[in-house]
Amino acid sequence: MPQKEKKRTLIIVSNRLPLSLKKIDGSYESSLSSGGLVTALSGISSSTNVRWFGWPGINIEDPEERKIATKALAEKNGVGIFLDEKLAHSHYNDFSNGIAWPILHYQSGVSFDEDAWKAYQRVNEIFADAVASEVQNGDLVWVHDYHLLLFPAYLRSRLKELGKTNCPIGFTLHTPFPAEDFWRALPVHNELLEGVLACDLIGFHTDEYKRNFIECCSRGLDVKIEGGDIEYNGNKAHIGTFIVGIDPQKFTDGLLNPPVQQRVKDLEEVYKSKVVILGVDRLDYTKGLVQKLQGYEYFLQQHPELKQKVVLIQVAIPSREDVKEYQELEKELNTLVGKINGEHSTPYGTPIVYIHRSVSFTDLSALYRISDICLITSSRDGMNLVAAEFVACQKDRYGVLVLSELAGAAAFMGTGSITFNPSSGQQVCDSIYKAATMSREEKKTSYENLEEFVTTNTRSLANAAFTYPSLQKRVISTTMTSR
Ligand code: ADP
Ligand code: G6P
Repeated sequence: MPQKEKKRTLIIVSNRLPLSLKKIDGSYESSLSSGGLVTALSGISSSTNVRWFGWPGINIEDPEERKIATKALAEKNGVGIFLDEKLAHSHYNDFSNGIAWPILHYQSGVSFDEDAWKAYQRVNEIFADAVASEVQNGDLVWVHDYHLLLFPAYLRSRLKELGKTNCPIGFTLHTPFPAEDFWRALPVHNELLEGVLACDLIGFHTDEYKRNFIECCSRGLDVKIEGGDIEYNGNKAHIGTFIVGIDPQKFTDGLLNPPVQQRVKDLEEVYKSKVVILGVDRLDYTKGLVQKLQGYEYFLQQHPELKQKVVLIQVAIPSREDVKEYQELEKELNTLVGKINGEHSTPYGTPIVYIHRSVSFTDLSALYRISDICLITSSRDGMNLVAAEFVACQKDRYGVLVLSELAGAAAFMGTGSITFNPSSGQQVCDSIYKAATMSREEKKTSYENLEEFVTTNTRSLANAAFTYPSLQKRVISTTMTSR
């Protein structure tokens, strides 16, 4: 009798787990983490044969408490990699979000910090040790994002030592990858590339990011590039562009839920005489929130006839609050919102409704549904899934997507959106005006283009990652649709 083939496990590895732990009144509670990475992979994490390794967001010293937290994560297929608080801080805040994130998003003025770099290396090693000891021959390891650029090479060498040589490693970057001259500003640029080049498959969201990565490798390292493959140090990796989609049905089904319908009804009543412009962003400087508010203020000044007829509802989800730049941005936004509302409010209403906290899925879906315009002003953005979520919730309302040409999503959703350069407040203003004054016919045509993109590029291939032939071909077709 042939032996039953062992089921392969998909090992997802990312810094952020889909659930973040918080200690409340002595016990551990988990809440859904926010951000595009978690959304892109949602659905997969609850499948059988998946284990998701990551940092749970807090340090727990006490072994008994760790057991409780580990159990809570395991119920959702999560495996917590607990880190010493200082080390986690240095890896996450100082290097990943203080150095790597700004460089990947074309922010200048980043200063390199040796201690942060050491912490980054150390955490990547800790992750590699944890995963190497758990992974079985035949499993597929799928690593995500800029917190773990060194991890693939570390993992590869540990797996070799352990004789686990049949474990393909895939990597997906969820941010932009910058042009070579920008990337080179990072003193450890080649070390980071070498880490990623130990994979079997390397994925980017757009062709531009992929081209930039290849250019950086060919300028900095002795690589051989052939077709879609890149060979370095005896390892051949395939490089591809993968569109990240959402699960539109999660939203369309959600909109049928009575609590969401009630919320939609309530909000429609509150805003019945207004054109609602919606922004949903993590509070991050890459989202261009200052530029959004300034452009909106221009709009209020230049179109007084529309002033009483519009409202901007801006949800700013708190993010990376220990990083100085994020703290400064928070203050700047508070001041700017206060100034604009102070100048333009009337007893009948305020021009900006600013929600600086996380909102529930019910509220988020209802807001997407009742809004007339979704305004995305990112100065750079790997993809931006908010754009797709807005479209998924609109249906026959034909809401208008006003989308920064510098967001990855513009490469795919440019047709059907009003695109603009977010550094120009005037362009932000003009784009809002255009969206607010479009005829229903124009909106319908634009919307249909967007809807087609969103409903075609879904997570429908999610389970393909588990099928044997696609593993053999080293193709990871997960939440992404290969182009
Ligand atoms: P980024 O990855 O930079 O945060 P995206 O626009 O790609 O930007 O993704 C943001 C994701 O976070 C969206 O899928 C959005 O629905 C999700 N999100 C927004 N608010 C919350 C929340 N309160 N809890 C969990 N996820 C949220
Ligand atoms: C972006 C990054 C993700 C990250 C998310 C939320 O989407 O690409 O890797 O998880 O932002 O940020 P946070 O720092 O809270 O994990």
